[in-house]
Amino acid sequence: MGKSKDKWGFSTRAIHVGNAPDKEEGSVSPPIHLTSTFKQDGVGKNRGHDYSRVSNPTRARLEANLAALDNAKHAICYSTGMAATTALFQLFDAGDHILISRNTYGGTYRMSMNVLKRQGLTFDWIDTRNPENVAKHIKPNTKLVHVETPTNPLLELCDLEGTAAVCKSAGVFLSVDNSFMSPYGQRPLELGADVVMQSSTKSLSGHSDVLGGVLTTNSDDLDERLRFLMKATGGVPSPFDNWILLRSTKTLGLRYQKSSDNAVKLANWLDTLDLPRVIYPGLKSHPQHELAQQQRTPDGSVIYGNMISIDVGSIEARDQFLEKLEVFTLAESLGGVESLCCVPYDMTHAAVPVESKLEMGITESLIRLSIGIEDVVDLQSDLQTALSK
Ligand SMILES: Cc1ncc(COP(=O)(O)O)c(C=O)c1O
Repeated sequence: MGKSKDKWGFSTRAIHVGNAPDKEEGSVSPPIHLTSTFKQDGVGKNRGHDYSRVSNPTRARLEANLAALDNAKHAICYSTGMAATTALFQLFDAGDHILISRNTYGGTYRMSMNVLKRQGLTFDWIDTRNPENVAKHIKPNTKLVHVETPTNPLLELCDLEGTAAVCKSAGVFLSVDNSFMSPYGQRPLELGADVVMQSSTKSLSGHSDVLGGVLTTNSDDLDERLRFLMKATGGVPSPFDNWILLRSTKTLGLRYQKSSDNAVKLANWLDTLDLPRVIYPGLKSHPQHELAQQQRTPDGSVIYGNMISIDVGSIEARDQFLEKLEVFTLAESLGGVESLCCVPYDMTHAAVPVESKLEMGITESLIRLSIGIEDVVDLQSDLQTALSK
């Protein structure tokens, strides 16, 4: 007898859940339901869907697939990662307080401080490396602790089990932006988080060709509230984008493993050079290396992720480095098959005040590398040429 679906391994779930052959024609690749509306058989009698803002069969397939990857009961898909984070924060009311990791993606900062703060939510940006520090900052009106681990771009880690325990005892939700690690590298719901947010634009898509976002949860109540918000506010993804993502997650395990293996090799080599900073959780020199080992092994193998940050020391060295690169492309985003690099100070974190950036260590000469699945020797030789004086 075969294993039941909930016992399937990661890649079997990625390839088969949400991907059953089409019932009508038997197509092995699922159809794309490019429709805004659905015929009703009578008033109030639909066949499971009535209007695509509310639900769509292709989106339903993707939601089943992404829920299975996180071992979650529910997944709700959005048009972008930012739409997902905004919907998550909109669960709360004016006067409520949200605690967020200090060096999260700059767009999360921009949306919180320039949009939702105007509508009465309050935010504090704190160091979430230590659960005790999180506990210290929880106020009577705190409703949510939202962490990134590793953070962007300093790759600080949050002890998810410890932080989940702090949040549970305070009656506060814990959500995790898991865009950097993907469910292949880290599954926060299994460590006690209430909600996982991901920009599917990153490793879930993996080909830098589509935008998307997703929230996963095991809570029926949160699922119901989020689906209501989605119906009311409408930040839904298109059926075509859903289909692209459904196809992409089939290779997530292969892609993520390879890019993480490449990153381990490159980080170890970069660490032997005379650079002011090489930050990678897989390096013994990373202050939270042990936590990285414990937290990133959902399927037994050690996954440290595909992001490395390096400081090259000066703006001149940075510009020379960027000019000489041939394989790496200077571009926003991460998690694709192709290696990218960016300067967080001026690019992803442009919205964060200069003093905050400098205080945290996001300098003008800090470069974030997103490692792809190219041949690692080519990546190393590209970096070597770019770093040579
Ligand atoms: C960690 C992280 N979270 C969220 C986002 C936002 O996702 P999107 O660009 O899909 O809106 C990004 C985008 O770069 C990101 O890097």
